[in-house]
Amino acid sequence: MLQNDIILKTLRGEPTDRTPVWMMRQAGRYLPEYMVLREKYGFFERCQTPELACEITLQPVDIVGVDAAILFSDILVVPQAMGLEVQLIESKGPVLPDPIKNGNDLSRIRVPDVEETLGYVFDAIKLIKKELNNRVPLIGFAGAPWTLLCYMVQGKGSKTFDEAKAFCYTQPELAHRVLQMITDTTVAYLTAQVKAGADIVQVFDSWGGLLGPEDFENLSLRYIRQIVAVLKDKVPTIIFAKGAWHSLDSMAATGAQGLGIDWCIRPEMARQLAGNQVTLQGNFDPAKLLSPIPVIQKEVKAMLQAFGPGRHIANLGHGILPTVPVAHAQAFVDTVKNYRHPL
Ligand code: CP3
Repeated sequence: MLQNDIILKTLRGEPTDRTPVWMMRQAGRYLPEYMVLREKYGFFERCQTPELACEITLQPVDIVGVDAAILFSDILVVPQAMGLEVQLIESKGPVLPDPIKNGNDLSRIRVPDVEETLGYVFDAIKLIKKELNNRVPLIGFAGAPWTLLCYMVQGKGSKTFDEAKAFCYTQPELAHRVLQMITDTTVAYLTAQVKAGADIVQVFDSWGGLLGPEDFENLSLRYIRQIVAVLKDKVPTIIFAKGAWHSLDSMAATGAQGLGIDWCIRPEMARQLAGNQVTLQGNFDPAKLLSPIPVIQKEVKAMLQAFGPGRHIANLGHGILPTVPVAHAQAFVDTVKNYRHPL
């Protein structure tokens, strides 16, 4: 039995004494303890070594006291397992030197056996569950097919992912084949994460907001829907599609227990669009954690009031920035944990 299961309760719509809290990308560069390991080991070495992934996953639980752990890994281990080379280059971010551009490139990717290619993730999950010793739940995750296609076609980060979009608009049949292959891999991958011990899963569609509502349905949500359909009856499933607030109603209709929102939508409006049967997660502007601590405390309380009691998991609207002082992240978490909604 978990000692702290308030996130699970909140995802089931059950009442809790206070709002639960965690932070997207909470295991990372703002923590000096992470930077020590980053000096010694390469990025994918940290992901692929269960002892390192476990240590990094536990850091924010031990240091800032969040209500859930999230597996230390990356969404790009899936394209890697499918056969593409992925490098993480300091100050440049992810680089895929041989991206998918045409039908011939399809022969270079496959739907892999996840136990064979991603077994290190499941080993890390088993170790993390043991080390967590039931303190808090563990969140597993994967990238949404659309967001992964963005990297697999563009070959690097981008503000617009115009090459990835052009690929979909000019070679739609090919695009859908790639999206389906990513979806099949992701269903197997998340199912195995749950089997290894993940208590919750989150699908990150970081670039969902680059698509208009119809393209979002066609290129992203229809594949997320397949993933959610398989996972939601195993563990609570959260969809975070940054910027895709226009589709909150269709995302709620997938049956996902949680929906992540960013800071560009008011909580009241997100609630109206999503309805009352789903838990909302978010939506503090990550850059606001650079404000003085009293400002953070005031703004976090305002956010909690705007969401109201129940069916809310406090989080950032996107990943924490590496420049955030630990004391500010701590203030964010503590303000949520100390706040009580008026009865
Ligand atoms: O949330 C967590 O703490 C768990 C770990 C996690 C990482 N990446 C570790 C990481 C998670 C959930 C991710 C997801 C991820 N990775 C996303 C979706 C969420 C989002 O932020 O939009 C995306 C788009 C990626 C791809 C990726 N990985 C990028 C663009 C980068 C470089 C830029 C950046 O933010 O650092 C990475 C590298 C990465 N993934 C780091 C970490 C801790 C930094 C690596 C380092 O330099 O130490």
